[in-house]
Amino acid sequence: MKRIGILTSGGDCQALNAAMRGVAKALYENIRDVEIIGFLDGYKGLMYSDYTKLNPVDFSGILTKGGTILGTSRQPFKKMREPDSNGLDKVKAMVDTYKKLRLECLVILGGNGTHKTANLLSEEGLNVVTLPKTIDNDIYGTDITFGFQSAVDIATDAIDCIHTTAASHSRVFIVEVMGHKVGWLTLHAGIASGADIILLPEIPYDIDKLIEAINKRTEEGKQFSILAVAEGAISKKDAKLSKKKLKEKREASLYPSISYELGAEIQERTGQEIRVTIPGHMQRGGSPCAYDRVIATRFGAAAANLIVKGEYGYMVGMRDGEIVKVPLSEVAGKLKMVDPKSSIIEEAKLIGISFGD
Ligand code: F6P
Repeated sequence: MKRIGILTSGGDCQALNAAMRGVAKALYENIRDVEIIGFLDGYKGLMYSDYTKLNPVDFSGILTKGGTILGTSRQPFKKMREPDSNGLDKVKAMVDTYKKLRLECLVILGGNGTHKTANLLSEEGLNVVTLPKTIDNDIYGTDITFGFQSAVDIATDAIDCIHTTAASHSRVFIVEVMGHKVGWLTLHAGIASGADIILLPEIPYDIDKLIEAINKRTEEGKQFSILAVAEGAISKKDAKLSKKKLKEKREASLYPSISYELGAEIQERTGQEIRVTIPGHMQRGGSPCAYDRVIATRFGAAAANLIVKGEYGYMVGMRDGEIVKVPLSEVAGKLKMVDPKSSIIEEAKLIGISFGD
């Protein structure tokens, strides 16, 4: 009998359940005697032996369901080697649970932080296979992560709604889009919704150029401007600050986020009325879009296939539409950012979108 452990870790996203269903269906189809153990709330379940035996019925009807049936939590990688409040060695505890349950392997669904811990567990000798989940699409080694396209759709809908109200008022609207340190989500939602200005962490903006772009629209008789601003967007000036100085500046700021700071500056410099909208966690919620259901199912089935073949220490990813396996050591600790020189940026600029640079 093969006993497989599975867990979801870090921030949730759409299609986590679809991916787990893909793993489970392919395991049940292709391994004669298999048992699946689900760890609750991410690595926490593995640390504290909090798990449940899953049956085929648990994976039924979850393809379209948002969130994760196993629950999740953030367990920062940098604290993995620190004992918990009761002195427990977290890494040892996870290895012990794995051994106690005589697991054949662990299937881990997660983002960047999760992959660092997955790699650590693999280095500790556990059999690990991972799947790339995140709305941020920032995982190295794969063109796409599941959750991303669903979040793009939601952020696009949000900006579409802003468009109709913006067209009725003469205002500058800022929509702040999630994405942590990268701009994939903002870039795609911004283009899809016809935003006039897109600000990304990868392309620090020059406030003068930004004001120029807004004023140009006003001079052309455009009644409104819509800015899609990544939560990690940064000005050229701030990008020159040391990490420490930037942190101090942000802690001392009167504004809850970059959009409000930017809004105040634009209002002062252009005299235009500003409105800020932050769709926030809505972007991670709801049912996965069809595209995410497809790739999550493919990733899940491919992960099961690695288990059937006994190939461990890999993340399942996608390159040029084909499933690939990427060694965890290549994935862990890297960030896939938008390349400011990529053709998508060039094409966006060709249609007149300003990146404030
Ligand atoms: O990584 C996914 C993500 O939604 C980011 O886009 C965002 O910065 C972060 O998680 C929010 O995290 P939390 O849910 O812990 O507030």
